[in-house]
Amino acid sequence: MSVALTVSNLAKSFSPDILPAVDDVSFVAAPGEIIVLLGPSGCGKTTTLRMVAGLEQPTKGLIRINDQAVYDSATGAVVAPQNRQIGMVFQSYAVWPHMTVFENVAYPLKRRGISKSEARERIADTLKLVGLEDYAERSVVALSGGQMQRVALARALVYQPRIVLLDEPLSNLDAKLRIRLRDDLRTIIKQLGLTALYVTHDQEEAVVIGDRIGVMRDGKLLQMSAAVDLYNNPADLFVANFTGVTNTLSGRLVGRDGAHGCIELGGGAVRILAKVPGAVQSGESVLVALRPENIALSNSSSQASASQQFAGRVVRRRFHGGQSVYTVALLGTELDVVELGTAPRFASDADVLVSIPPDLCWAFASRAVDKVAHEHL
Ligand SMILES: Nc1ncnc2c1ncn2[C@@H]1O[C@H](COP(=O)(O)OP(=O)(O)OP(=O)(O)O)[C@@H](O)[C@H]1O
Ligand SMILES: [Mg+2]
Repeated sequence: MSVALTVSNLAKSFSPDILPAVDDVSFVAAPGEIIVLLGPSGCGKTTTLRMVAGLEQPTKGLIRINDQAVYDSATGAVVAPQNRQIGMVFQSYAVWPHMTVFENVAYPLKRRGISKSEARERIADTLKLVGLEDYAERSVVALSGGQMQRVALARALVYQPRIVLLDEPLSNLDAKLRIRLRDDLRTIIKQLGLTALYVTHDQEEAVVIGDRIGVMRDGKLLQMSAAVDLYNNPADLFVANFTGVTNTLSGRLVGRDGAHGCIELGGGAVRILAKVPGAVQSGESVLVALRPENIALSNSSSQASASQQFAGRVVRRRFHGGQSVYTVALLGTELDVVELGTAPRFASDADVLVSIPPDLCWAFASRAVDKVAHEHL
């Protein structure tokens, strides 16, 4: 049976002298939902996971599995980790090296007093689920990294937890294996209907695995949305940058036009329409964020499009095989533009029209952009 996981106002301070590792984090994972926590190193992902598992005592907050509070600072309720029915998979291969695959997976069942015949059946089912049915008698040290992680996953799943927590389970694997295993992971978790919390700092992994993604920074949960929403409606510049926005244009908000803000760029020479997700006053300085994939280039002879168009010039072209990455000079700055396809259409120095869709660029107040966000630009 799938369960809901509620995290409310969760906080953890390791020391009063430093900023909290987790700062007032709240979210609800619906039964069977895969929630990904995404963010840079040190933002509090692992600490959040460890508090849900019961391995770390929160400073404050509430963690509930369905209606049961497994931690509540208001009432003092604390359920021990082994009684939370949570399975965990870590980045390092947490397998017992002196045991076979079968023995590794059997280990959690032994401690729970499950009969031998039932254990055999469950282990066989779980090994099949993770694609290791032919490896039961193999010593785990004779496995590849990907296979070891499958063993770790089988061990987390074999005692039928209500929730599974995964902390960067793929980061020790090579790129090819990572892609295969991430698809398998999602399929397996969905097949079992498990509620899952999955930690990564890889945006692509987050998008493929998660039903919703929560972006964290400095212990805070900035935004939690379905991937398509996160990419197309980022709440702030940090979220935009962390999910692949590499372009920003400096300007000033000078007015509103329906759902869009009108932004003056390049000292007033040009105006651009952009969405304005946060609170921005008229006259305020803004940074307009733009994804390289959402900008289109065309020859000056092309037809007018629904997007706003500006005259630019190709400064540099980098051929990446399946795509070309252009650096385009525009309004006194340079933008990255990505175009799919193996045949580049524009040469260096070419004059181009640059189309920017008003619904896929966002103006954020410059004052909200602090030092930390700049580090990720
Ligand atoms: N046991 C501890 N004692 C003191 N500080 C800690 C402890 N564990 C974590 N921290 C601090 O809490 C913050 C959050 O750490 P956490 O491990 O949750 O980050 P993370 O998002 O998982 O990072 P990474 O991507 O590097 O794994 C960091 O500043 C870290 O140094
Ligand atoms: Mg971590």
